[in-house]
Amino acid sequence: MTRQHADVERRLSELRATLHHHNHCYHVLDAPEIADAEYDGLFDELLSLEASHPYLITEDSPSQRVGAGPAAQFEKIQHRQPMLSLDKSTDADELRDWMLRCRSRLGDASGLDFICEPKIDGVAVALTYRDGLLVSAATRGDGLIGENILANVRTIASVPLRLVGADIPQAFEVRGEIYMAHRDFDAFNERAAQQQQKPLLNPRNGAAGSLRQLDSRITASRPLTMFCYSAGWIDGDWQPQTHAEVLRQFALWGFRTNPMTEEVGGLEGCLDYIQRLQDARNSLGYDIDGIVIKVNQLALQEELGNVTRKPRWAIAFKYPAEEATTRLVDVDFQVGRTGAITPVARLQPVFVGGVTVTNATLHNIDEIQRLGLRIGDQVMIRRAGDVIPQVRGVLLSQRPADSSAVVIPERCPACGSQVERAGGEIVIRCSGSVNSCPAQRKEGIRHFASRLALDIDGLGDKIIEQLVEKGMVSDAADLFELDVEALSGLERMAQKSAENLCAAIAASKQTTLPRFIYALGIREVGEATAHSLAMHFGTLEDLRNADLEALEEVADVGPVVARSIYDYVHNADNLRVLDALLASGVNWPAIQRDEAAQPLAGQTWVLTGALDVMSRNEAKAALQLLGAKVAGSVSAKTSVVVAGPGAGSKLAKATALDINVVDEEQFLAFLQEAGIDIPNG
Ligand code: IVH
Repeated sequence: MTRQHADVERRLSELRATLHHHNHCYHVLDAPEIADAEYDGLFDELLSLEASHPYLITEDSPSQRVGAGPAAQFEKIQHRQPMLSLDKSTDADELRDWMLRCRSRLGDASGLDFICEPKIDGVAVALTYRDGLLVSAATRGDGLIGENILANVRTIASVPLRLVGADIPQAFEVRGEIYMAHRDFDAFNERAAQQQQKPLLNPRNGAAGSLRQLDSRITASRPLTMFCYSAGWIDGDWQPQTHAEVLRQFALWGFRTNPMTEEVGGLEGCLDYIQRLQDARNSLGYDIDGIVIKVNQLALQEELGNVTRKPRWAIAFKYPAEEATTRLVDVDFQVGRTGAITPVARLQPVFVGGVTVTNATLHNIDEIQRLGLRIGDQVMIRRAGDVIPQVRGVLLSQRPADSSAVVIPERCPACGSQVERAGGEIVIRCSGSVNSCPAQRKEGIRHFASRLALDIDGLGDKIIEQLVEKGMVSDAADLFELDVEALSGLERMAQKSAENLCAAIAASKQTTLPRFIYALGIREVGEATAHSLAMHFGTLEDLRNADLEALEEVADVGPVVARSIYDYVHNADNLRVLDALLASGVNWPAIQRDEAAQPLAGQTWVLTGALDVMSRNEAKAALQLLGAKVAGSVSAKTSVVVAGPGAGSKLAKATALDINVVDEEQFLAFLQEAGIDIPNG
């Protein structure tokens, strides 16, 4: 062996070890230690050394994750132990019954412990490691015979190709779930939309479809990841005692295990876990369809055994499904406050996410094309938490023969004005104005009264509709002319409700300048921009007198937003309403903009994960009030990161960059000290 050859071999093994380590930090621990560019530099060096010394390439080299060429078909693999499915429970009684059955079967069940983990909605796989190397990966198949998808699984960065650490058994099987995280799924679909390709229906479908590719180079381009959740057979002298011990050992060997796994005490502990995970369900960053509860002691698992194809030692607790399929009955077009026309899917009622859904948003007309929707189609609906139901995709195989195209309107459905689509915009708009279009008028008033604007309690959609249709209100200022007598004349409005509403309207006159600016409904001016404008100009007068240049000096205001504000305050109709609002007594306390009131001036904060007590918007507004900038991503310039449960890559990045991280409790304490009102949790 030449000297040079030995040097290359040493460098290659050094590079592989370093790359394995950083791969593990990034994909398994969610805690990168080096910048992406640095990783890429090392990876390039590996590729170029291997290219010039191809005989030194090893199976477990990080370069070998890129995917092989197409295979003719998947080879069948017989599972040494069947891959089972789980019994289901949906309430506390069923769970209690299962626990009682375990106890009574075991006779003496004094030491019986349970362990809970999220039930990942992905694809089950069984991995075989021999001498620490990944040698096989099989799908569940029918539970007895699966398919060998090794080439595809090798492309998944969080699956170790070679294990690290001590006491690795000679051969053993690891089981787990391969899935696509929400962030990766969204990014994938965004790219698909740009390239005019069909979107993935849901992350589970995305994972299953990616693993089914005969060409593993396609799988390599799909962002998949894996949680390992149990050991299958073991050849060697590893004899773990508990499931928790298996998972701990897995993590030491380099597998990714679910950090939400918890050993719990009895039924109460399980129910508490189930509730906590249900609350956190939408901030986990991946789909779960329930919880798996397992007997922790492996000896007791063995004693309990299996019934046909289900273990007696584990049970699933299922959450309400967040997805369902139903029929698209029609597409309606709704006119918003700024004249933007949004398509809304009318659906055959379907129970999903715990409620009956009849409508779903379609965002814009491009979305109709992207999804390839036709009236009559069977569609996949998703409703997660309080999020507005969405149409995920069309089940093309179930398209009825009499499906019909969605017709995009040429005239505004509310006022009949021509519909226009400005160059480059993805929205279509009513060309009429708030003066001619009743839909824009209603929406403008609804916005004015909404929670983040003047917050008029009791002024609901039905009332606004009547007020506008009867000609009692044509702009926001008219609201302050209403009296109890006029209001009690409305349908289904009792004297007492009319009095309450009148009082709420009067009370709303006392507001703040940011709320007032937001309430005006200026196009492009959301709550955050309204806040920046108020803080920057301090008075409505100064905002009205600002020229385009002055407007663009405001944080987050670019030329388009500046032009929109400028046009708004130079429109005679708008000025008339503004003056009428002031004349009717709408007022706000003067804004203090001295340094003392802005202790966070010059700082940049980032919010990530779920917040319990405050909404994101409230937290953001509070920070801005104190002078901080609120950014969407973590960088070296970030001052503080507020991290709630479910925080992922942003938290990891903050930790890697040594940035100050606080939890919600610390954040609230800080706000309280700074004199900010905290909503009641
Ligand atoms: S344990 C005996 N743990 O659920 C079966 N399964 O309905 C042991 N699954 O096919 C499975 N997350 O694909 C287990 N944390 C978890 C899981 C999990 C998802 C899937 C798995 C299995 C199905 C059973």
